[in-house]
Amino acid sequence: MTTPFRIAVLASGRGSNLAALLAARDRGELPVEFVLVASDKADAGALTLAGAAGVPTLALSPRDYADRASFDHALFERVAGTKPDLLVLAGFMRIIDGAALTPWAGRMINIHPSLLPKYRGLHTHRRALAAGDTEHGASVHFVTAELDGGPVIAQARMPIEPGDDEQRLAERLLALEHRLLPAVVADIAAGRIALRDGRVCLDGQALAAPLNWRNGMLSR
Ligand code: GRF
Repeated sequence: MTTPFRIAVLASGRGSNLAALLAARDRGELPVEFVLVASDKADAGALTLAGAAGVPTLALSPRDYADRASFDHALFERVAGTKPDLLVLAGFMRIIDGAALTPWAGRMINIHPSLLPKYRGLHTHRRALAAGDTEHGASVHFVTAELDGGPVIAQARMPIEPGDDEQRLAERLLALEHRLLPAVVADIAAGRIALRDGRVCLDGQALAAPLNWRNGMLSR
């Protein structure tokens, strides 16, 4: 028997992307072991979901630490103790200290609700609408010290429809996020997607552009 691929999830909020990962695992589409769900918010919905699913949880409050670097050091030391193969940031709403990230290069991914490199940071739906974009989407990328700036692995796209407002757009996109993230994690767990020399590779070949999630699968 091969050792299961171990993932830890970091989340600050309701945890719908965590729920999507757990559901994909339960459907047999994501053969991974959830070793930890950690949060910077003790009342995060993600922690409740994890507890209900029998996944170990950890809540650390930044208020208990002198500065960002010491909080991040403590958090990632605890995370490292669970020996994850991959860290998944799913709505983890903190900028992470660069030194804390270094050991996780190529082993930490984030989901962001925009078609990166467009709209790094917050209020992505509002900004896409304000810009008059006809298309919106979500991206999964490897995490680097640059906020929402690491190499993009895959994206899911959708048209912006007449009558879309910020909330409707966010809801429609979230449904796509819930498909995109488990698909990317599954391909990383299978060893198909990896970061090599700063470039995203699929089956050993560097990608010229992010993969697209469409018709239920990731494709070039
Ligand atoms: C998602 O929109 C994700 O793209 C962003 O934060 C949100 C988290 O939502 N990074 P949830 O907690 O997974 O429901």
